[in-house]
Amino acid sequence: MGKNIILETIAREMQAGVLVLNKEGAALYANPYFLNSFPIDNGVEDKPVGEIIKNSSLLKKVDHFLQSRGGKSEDIEISEASRFFKVHVVPLKEKEDFSLLLFLQDITEEKRVETIKKDFVANVSHELRTPLASIKGYSETLLDGGMDDKETLKEFLRVIDRHATRMARLIDDLLTLSRLESHQMTIVSAPVDLKELILYITTGFEKQARDKGITLSSQIPDGLPKILGDRDRLEQVMVNLLDNAIKYTPSGGNVSINAGKNNGNVKVNVKDTGFGIPADDIPRIFERFYRVDKARSRDLGGTGLGLAIVKHIIQGHNGKLHVESTPGKGSTFSFSLKACD
Ligand SMILES: Nc1ncnc2c1ncn2[C@@H]1O[C@H](COP(=O)(O)OP(=O)(O)OP(=O)(O)O)[C@@H](O)[C@H]1O
Ligand SMILES: [Mg+2]
Repeated sequence: MGKNIILETIAREMQAGVLVLNKEGAALYANPYFLNSFPIDNGVEDKPVGEIIKNSSLLKKVDHFLQSRGGKSEDIEISEASRFFKVHVVPLKEKEDFSLLLFLQDITEEKRVETIKKDFVANVSHELRTPLASIKGYSETLLDGGMDDKETLKEFLRVIDRHATRMARLIDDLLTLSRLESHQMTIVSAPVDLKELILYITTGFEKQARDKGITLSSQIPDGLPKILGDRDRLEQVMVNLLDNAIKYTPSGGNVSINAGKNNGNVKVNVKDTGFGIPADDIPRIFERFYRVDKARSRDLGGTGLGLAIVKHIIQGHNGKLHVESTPGKGSTFSFSLKACD
């Protein structure tokens, strides 16, 4: 087989952009991947590079190569049309002729993951620093003589205990999430009676609801089919949803749970008459650490991990999660899981 056809096929099929410029800086060739990433009307042939790429640092570099007609190949990272590329620029000299080869690798996804990692570390550090600073402040005050007064001692120890509990919860939630994400936490599948599970979890929240002046009720029909799933994980889903419903509903409101069979699935709705969630925030509330009203959630002891855990567990069960909310009126969080036959 001829070498040319092989080289042409490589250029056509490779998953990176290739742009070749002549010594005047006009395009000689662009492969399909490049044309896909930088759509140009009527193709690129003979067009000056400045009409094809807008990034000024890359154009400067290209200019430099064209002026000096030589040099060593170089790498540069650019962002163009809201994507990130690593560009490998290779000068090619043959006697009096000169051309410049540009290889573009799309690194948008790597950049995105890098940002998530950076944000994650920043978020965790911030969330741990706040309770830790309180623990340190209160214990220092006690050691500086505050201990002598029994009432102060008791009150400060209570604050320290509350913050330590919060830190422990944050770490528990992070570990749960990381296990769910790395699939270390296998979802055990056994028939689960959701009615019994819901009644059990709801009972646990009765005091919390009563103390806040919220009516908590559930309506679950008899004979609801069982679903195949992991009971412990599903308990956590219910705990996180109910905790939110009560937390984000002002005193005097209602939280109600109902369940029913629907097209071979069992659907559970947790409905509250609380603050509600603005439509713009709804797509983001399942992200780790995302809180609509940061101050309010933090005052209530939240770190923004509850719904991220819910999402992972429901996804792990191949179930569906749904939210409907009207600010000022309330929210309904629903999940549905396949019923056992
Ligand atoms: N039932 C609800 N009503 C109104 N807002 C809600 C409701 N459930 C969740 N939210 C909003 O979504 C955000 C994310 O919820 P999530 O449960 O993940 O975190 P959190 O409750 O703030 O903290 P954590 O669950 O870790 O204690 C909350 O901060 C809140 O702004
Ligand atoms: Mg929560």
